[in-house]
Amino acid sequence: MNIILLGPPGAGKGTQAKRLEDAYGLVQLSTGDMLRAEVASGSVLGRQAKEIMDAGQFMPDDLMVGMIESRIGQPDCDKGFILDGFPRTEAQARALDVMLARKGLTLNHVVELTVDEAALIERITGRFSCSRCGAGYHDRFQLPRVDGVCDFCGGTEFKRRADDNEETVRARLEIYHAQTAPILPYYRERGVLDAVDGMADIDEVTRQIKAVLH
Ligand code: AP5
Repeated sequence: MNIILLGPPGAGKGTQAKRLEDAYGLVQLSTGDMLRAEVASGSVLGRQAKEIMDAGQFMPDDLMVGMIESRIGQPDCDKGFILDGFPRTEAQARALDVMLARKGLTLNHVVELTVDEAALIERITGRFSCSRCGAGYHDRFQLPRVDGVCDFCGGTEFKRRADDNEETVRARLEIYHAQTAPILPYYRERGVLDAVDGMADIDEVTRQIKAVLH
């Protein structure tokens, strides 16, 4: 099964992708995570990405398409994947179709997480993650069970993303509306798009997505 999770920054794509990975044995392909790994490595691409991401803008389409294509070609994607953060523009959506057709793969579902934008700023500015295993948390909605200790790996170091400040989030929301939201009709017309209420609590959102996938 191959799925796209679509929605604005903070809609819960990453949170839900992790849960679907566990539930269905799929692989989460987060272009944001891939770019952050490049930034952390200090590569030339990473230096370019940092500047663009910190400004809340998008990386070039051809670069992102190439990144996803090589990732989808790896054996761990054979059971299926969850695209999180890709496609983000009409050009990326069209390139994905060409790529999947060439590989004989099918896009089974596109799930849109609908959210109240006022809530997104709070969600994003309160987000943090475990430095060791990457598990995601939130100052208000999802704290570790034991204060300062990761539920999953026992790590005690946590980090926040450089682009998770209010000014950058507003720029990210603007570009989402200008460039990503317009691809929703593309998938709606093909009959693969379902909307799920991303404002429900995290477990309920997972339940609704699973209902769509079944
Ligand atoms: P990316 O990392 O993809 O960021 P994003 O799309 O802005 O999405 P986020 O990761 O911020 O949010 P999310 O929807 O995953 O929410 P989360 O689950 O964490 O991209 C970053 C940058 O990389 C882009 O700005 C761009 O520059 C570049 N880039 C990436 N892909 C690209 C591409 N294809 N083309 C060009 N450039 C690209 O949830 C947020 C918080 O809310 C968490 O703390 C969570 O605990 C909490 N939460 C989640 N769900 C709920 C809920 N139901 N109720 C309450 N709290 C919740």
